[in-house]
Amino acid sequence: MNLGIKIFFIIVILTIIISQKSFSHTNEPRHHAMVTLAKNMKEISRTIKSNSSFDDNFERKIYEVYEISKKLDYLFEEDDSSKEDSRASPEIWKNKDKFFSLTKDFEQSIENLLQAVKNNDIEEMNNAISRVGANCGKCHRSFRLPKKN
Ligand code: HEC
Repeated sequence: MNLGIKIFFIIVILTIIISQKSFSHTNEPRHHAMVTLAKNMKEISRTIKSNSSFDDNFERKIYEVYEISKKLDYLFEEDDSSKEDSRASPEIWKNKDKFFSLTKDFEQSIENLLQAVKNNDIEEMNNAISRVGANCGKCHRSFRLPKKN
């Protein structure tokens, strides 16, 4: 092997090692999805409470939440509960039916919120938001472990 090829291989191997090291929990799709849920729901409820204009940005935020709600099963496909920085409970994979029924309820509650926005009914929106929030909490109580450190 000539030196150029050797150097090339060393660079490739180093790149692989470094990129694996920097792959932490905080850049996982699931983490990103949950953080987006929290951020968007906060903005959505603030807009409803202040009765501001329900513009395209407002609807886009709800649709983003809706898309995530449909992907939750997929985001929890792999059992990574043994990872140190994961707070996913092993119960998710032992009791999949219950977990899937909660993701389904969650998705349904976002559909209700979308319907309330289409109806332009503030009271219905407030009720829908409370149910969405209750569903976040319900799943976290059953399937999200307390902080490990
Ligand atoms: C069907 C179950 C389920 C639903 C519904 C759900 N979550 Fe979660 N959430 C989890 C689990 C499990 C974890 C822990 C995941 C982990 O540590 O990898 C979590 C983690 C989080 C985190 C921490 C993310 C991180 O990696 O730091 C936030 C923030 C969060 N959820 C917000 C929300 C909000 C807001 C909602 C509702 C709008 C919601 N979640 C709905 C199961 C759910």
